[in-house]
Amino acid sequence: MAGSGGRDRAVKLAVRDVRIGYRERRNGRFFAAVQNLSFEIKDNEFIAIVGPSGCGKTTFLSAVAGLIEIASGSLELNGHAIQGPGPDRSLVFQQHSLFPWRTVTANVGFGLEAQGRLDEHGRRRVSDLIELVGLNGKEGKYPRELSGGMSQRVNLARALATDPDLLLLDEPFAALDAQTREVMQEELTRVWQADSASGGKTALFITHDVPEAVYLADRVLVFSASPGRLVESVDIDLPRPRDPGVKRSKEFAELNDHVLGLVMQQAAISRGGAR
Ligand SMILES: Nc1ncnc2c1ncn2[C@@H]1O[C@H](COP(=O)(O)OP(=O)(O)OP(=O)(O)O)[C@@H](O)[C@H]1O
Ligand SMILES: [Mg+2]
Repeated sequence: MAGSGGRDRAVKLAVRDVRIGYRERRNGRFFAAVQNLSFEIKDNEFIAIVGPSGCGKTTFLSAVAGLIEIASGSLELNGHAIQGPGPDRSLVFQQHSLFPWRTVTANVGFGLEAQGRLDEHGRRRVSDLIELVGLNGKEGKYPRELSGGMSQRVNLARALATDPDLLLLDEPFAALDAQTREVMQEELTRVWQADSASGGKTALFITHDVPEAVYLADRVLVFSASPGRLVESVDIDLPRPRDPGVKRSKEFAELNDHVLGLVMQQAAISRGGAR
């Protein structure tokens, strides 16, 4: 299928026959959370990952973030094996992970500060991002004074501030109410489109919400029941820029049904106690 236009772009992330797991405490046995996982992600692609609970999505994202090691296979970012965390990647989690003692501005600027880049240019980037995510006027507020949606905007701005090559998002909107969630999806699309124009970013977005995956992504990767591997990569050929109206189109409904069917199938295998 054409549309995502990723064919001739450079490979950003190469995942080859990856196996990741945990050593069980009680018997020292290795438990594979992800196995035989292979795919490639191109520069600038927005990738959504869906799959049943416990299939290894967070495990995989943690390995890409460099927080855990892979057991076998290869995981390469820009042609180099991932060996630990780095400034080329930013993470946004479901739970708010803001520093409670820092204001909005200081939270957004955290990464730049840690990298010694909070100079005049850095400070301008921080205020531009605060504006981009719609938080003007909230600069001096502390996390406890923000709503859930606002906190996730701060998280998003903070993740974007250091201009990461790869943005890693693990169910960033899961804790939000349905309405705020829709607003945040639109915001992310808008911010994405605005920020990609200047830099060129690649994103990995985990979600349980299939319409959210289809709306946001260039490609949806469906993971199997545990241990996670790729079941199907679904190209989302919906034109960009997208707006919520696209969710009412026939094309959207077809893509959504297709992905949902695959996820339900895997969820049934999961429930069947395949392991
Ligand atoms: N730190 C850990 N130690 C041991 N096992 C773990 C650890 N983290 C995850 N697991 C196990 O690895 C498997 C995959 O978990 P993971 O959190 O990656 O799934 P997930 O797809 O993100 O699930 P969900 O959709 O519910 O967030 C599960 O069986 C889980 O119990
Ligand atoms: Mg998870």
